[in-house]
Amino acid sequence: MKKKVTVVGAGNVGATAAQRLAEKALCDVVLVDIAEGLPQGKALDLAEAAPIEKHDSRLVGTNDYEATAGSDIVIITAGIPRKPGMSRDDLVKTNKGIMQSVVENVAKQSPDAILIVVSNPLDAMCHIAFEASGFPKNRVLGMAGVLDSARFRCFIAEELDVSVENTHAFVLGGHGDTMVPLPRYSTVAGVPITEMMPADRIEAIVERTRTGGAEIVSLLKTGSAFYAPASASVEMAESILKDRKKILPCAVYLEGEYGINGLFIGVPVKLGKDGIEEIIEIKLTDEENAALQKSADAVRNLVDDMAKL
Ligand code: NAI
Ligand code: 2OP
Repeated sequence: MKKKVTVVGAGNVGATAAQRLAEKALCDVVLVDIAEGLPQGKALDLAEAAPIEKHDSRLVGTNDYEATAGSDIVIITAGIPRKPGMSRDDLVKTNKGIMQSVVENVAKQSPDAILIVVSNPLDAMCHIAFEASGFPKNRVLGMAGVLDSARFRCFIAEELDVSVENTHAFVLGGHGDTMVPLPRYSTVAGVPITEMMPADRIEAIVERTRTGGAEIVSLLKTGSAFYAPASASVEMAESILKDRKKILPCAVYLEGEYGINGLFIGVPVKLGKDGIEEIIEIKLTDEENAALQKSADAVRNLVDDMAKL
């Protein structure tokens, strides 16, 4: 039977994710938004492209949740994006309310779904989704590490003039300024970049990765990145839908792993048909671990502040 994925939020990230899901013929797609006509219009437009793109994914746009019933995965992109001068954390108040109402609706219609949270501030929104859904921790995850690692890979490939396909990179931690790109675990054709680039170039690439979201915001001026975020969300969905068991950095609820308890934070996980099938604990140096703990502290502060709103 064909798989079904709901994408909530038919804006830049959501509509692009719907397009990628359909064009990869991974599933049928339901696009939901509060804006009247927007999800219907975009779903119809994408459906009309299907004969040319040669796929049979069905696309439906709607303002209510009935059509989402029985979804295998729900990707949540509803919310407001950043504008120049705003941090991801500035979005917390508005997006908290949106996330709560979206997840309550989603959970009623699709009690067995796996939730992929995209809305910012990412790690804090995962907490809201986890609490509002009541789903087990293997079925609630956030997209950030795949995007941040893709940015890191893009910059490595550009620097060394090699194919992006030869690159591999890991970025752990929260999706913010304290994220933790790991050069030691980032490779080109299996060779760590620490052996291929001088330290100052690695540091420059690490810094560009950390500020990668803001770089796009300052160029676009009216919103934030969406092509790469959509690709990252769909890579996670594909690994689940096809039970590929890819190891990807995702925001997941930790209960003691990496010495972190009761917090969503980005770490490598195995993604398969059951969602998060394993949390992979890689060895970190003291310095890397300190950076991860600092990132976790920043997420914890935001989650604590959010609870007071
Ligand atoms: P956008 O403004 O283009 O789209 C957001 C959509 O959500 C709009 O169409 C809006 O009508 C809809 N929406 C608002 N409230 C809703 C509700 N209650 N129910 C259903 N739909 C609702 O924004 P964009 O660029 O698509 O970004 C979406 C979110 O994803 C933002 O919070 C952004 O910061 C975040 N984001 C996160 C990334 C990550 O790495 N985790 C990467 C890129 C974006
Ligand atoms: C990004 O990193 C805005 O979180 C989003 O592009």
